[in-house]
Amino acid sequence: MNVTKRVQRAGGEGAFLVMAKAQELERQGKSMIYMQIGEPDFNTPENIKQAGIRAIEENYTHYSSTMGRMDFRKAIAEYISRTRGVPVTAEEVLVSPGAKDVLYSACMTLLEDGDEAIYPNPSYPIYESIINISGAKSVPLPILEEKDFGFDRDTFVKLVSPRTKLVVINSPANPTGGIIAREDLELVAEMAKKYDFYVLSDEIYSRLVFEGEHFSIASLPGMKERTIIVDGMSKTYAMTGWRLGYAAGPRELIEWMSKIIANTASCTATFTQIAGIEALTGPQDDVETMRQEFLARREIIVEGLDAIPGVTCRKPHGAFYVFPNVKSFGRSSQEIADHLLYNAGVACLAGRSFGSFGEGYLRFSYATSRENIALALGRIRTALAELK
Ligand SMILES: Cc1ncc(COP(=O)(O)O)c(C=O)c1O
Repeated sequence: MNVTKRVQRAGGEGAFLVMAKAQELERQGKSMIYMQIGEPDFNTPENIKQAGIRAIEENYTHYSSTMGRMDFRKAIAEYISRTRGVPVTAEEVLVSPGAKDVLYSACMTLLEDGDEAIYPNPSYPIYESIINISGAKSVPLPILEEKDFGFDRDTFVKLVSPRTKLVVINSPANPTGGIIAREDLELVAEMAKKYDFYVLSDEIYSRLVFEGEHFSIASLPGMKERTIIVDGMSKTYAMTGWRLGYAAGPRELIEWMSKIIANTASCTATFTQIAGIEALTGPQDDVETMRQEFLARREIIVEGLDAIPGVTCRKPHGAFYVFPNVKSFGRSSQEIADHLLYNAGVACLAGRSFGSFGEGYLRFSYATSRENIALALGRIRTALAELK
């Protein structure tokens, strides 16, 4: 078919493809444990749901401005100022139907042919895809198990050049649960100032840190002007289906980025923004309850996977994923993921679907009940023994 080179450069998201396959198998009668997708298994907290329902009843069902409702932008600005320790105003905030949309808007606004953008690999597959759509060259920064899935300083320094226009960072990270240490963020900041590039800091898992506190690169001296913080409601407040995200960054850049939203979604649904105000300003107990539950599940799944012959699993420091090493089986991560899907009824993702440096690993989301995790561990152990 005669489609553009641009769309041919676009990648997909394995999680959605595997979900469709798993659902089909389940329809055919196979028992399935879903560990492939990155969404909390909890329901949206009651106070947030009620705020959304009230908003619809009160007819907040019309368009909002492209940048987002001013009351929601103010709530976001206060939240970012408080949680990141960097003063942000409502004018520096852009609301979007999901964090993904502001990642896209930022890349479309800052990148073009001849530019380079450095992104972590393995990582959320959309980074590489949207950089490629923009026409810029996507330059992978390997995220290595030997470095505890943290940040490879030496390689980073080698990859930066005057062509670098954007560096994407994600801490805590999908799919590894890795965290970028403060001194590594300081290095990125130093290079950003030297080479004059922007940092796209995806902080969507910032409330799912298991040791210590989240630290944003935007709070380092001279970095507020060069950082676009991306965050959203999906993971923190179990609101994936509401489609609600945002960016905070330099005012002029944020205004340019809103042009992309004006040309696509027009604006974000009004009643979801009102629910978003409740999420940010209402009680936060449910966020902590969910984090504690993820913490407990992390122990169960890491210990369980590590005990399976041929598998080694590091303890992630944040988010709700594990990224075990399965290289000893001598098969591609896709083959192993397919084997688990079709023969064990466990849906997970091949590490390769997060980039070439993800080969040899699998990603399991432990945003599922402890019972499901225990059941899945038994099935994985049996199925992997068949591959030895
Ligand atoms: C690192 C990362 N960023 C962004 C997103 C997208 O979030 P949203 O649902 O707000 O579009 C995801 C979702 O999986 C993610 O893992």
